[in-house]
Amino acid sequence: MSDNHGFGVDIGGSGIKGGVVDMETGELVGDRFKVLTPHPATPGACAEAVREVVAHFGWTGPLGITVPAVVTGGTVRSAANIDAGWIGTNADELFSETLGAQVTVVNDADAAGLAEDRYGAGHDKDGVTLLLTLGTGIGSALLYRGTLVPNTELGHLEVDGKEAEHRAASSVKERKGWSYEKWAVHLSRVIREYEKLLWPDLIIVGGGISRKSDKWIPLLEVTTPVVPAKLLNTAGIVGAAMASLPAR
Ligand code: BGC
Repeated sequence: MSDNHGFGVDIGGSGIKGGVVDMETGELVGDRFKVLTPHPATPGACAEAVREVVAHFGWTGPLGITVPAVVTGGTVRSAANIDAGWIGTNADELFSETLGAQVTVVNDADAAGLAEDRYGAGHDKDGVTLLLTLGTGIGSALLYRGTLVPNTELGHLEVDGKEAEHRAASSVKERKGWSYEKWAVHLSRVIREYEKLLWPDLIIVGGGISRKSDKWIPLLEVTTPVVPAKLLNTAGIVGAAMASLPAR
């Protein structure tokens, strides 16, 4: 283990992925390792799965772990798309005890935002950056000059009587069989609401659908420049590792 290395684990709906991160470059050192997310994904079952991932690398230092939920002071506060058993769980403590290591738990979109802001699409950009992850739900991260305002939860903002993530997450496009054109109308409506409230200078879009961003970013009718995330499937791991280490 080098001084320059960190470790992150990303807990997602289908997989729990971890890897060693080079904190200079934000790149993974070697491959990621993935196990399937247990069902039901209770805190205890996830802790065991994370143990397997960490053991694969023999990592013993501090590490960060993402969850798709609000986290304040290490405790999970919401469960929009995860097992309800997480609410009220002190996740920092649970994972630290299971792993015998110092663990920092962070919201998944916040982790991705930290990583993109330092190493990815937000690198060297001044002003307010808003990262949106488009997947089962909509995750958000708001940063100003590298500093994160945690747990913004913009996916739950009500837009025309409906939560933004129920209107425009990529899962809605899939479920309803919408074209990119149709989905872009709904996503634009949601983003315009975010613009009105936050006036970001840059919007970074992540999540699986950002791989095909050339098909839909040009269709968006919004004012702020929108760019795809660069780190794609490593942003959660990298951001989790960042959250576990003192700010640089
Ligand atoms: C959750 C957020 C999470 C997002 C993406 C939302 O439903 O409330 O905490 O970041 O989904 O996973």
